[in-house]
Amino acid sequence: MPVDRCICHEKPFTEIKQLAIEKGYTSVEEIQNAGLSSTSCKMCEPYIRAMLKTGETSFVPGFHLK
Ligand code: FES
Repeated sequence: MPVDRCICHEKPFTEIKQLAIEKGYTSVEEIQNAGLSSTSCKMCEPYIRAMLKTGETSFVPGFHLK
């Protein structure tokens, strides 16, 4: 099952990406400060970081640990 959302905020990465583009956010910190995602368990943080870097919104679980 791919990782494609922030579970704590109940938001898919597609929605977070769109909101980040609209607001001009380019860092995880800006997204966190705006309360869009990654403010609770933070398990999604490396995926959000990858989303901002690559534009992708669906990831293989744990890819960032390799
Ligand atoms: S999954 Fe995003 S903060 Fe928990």
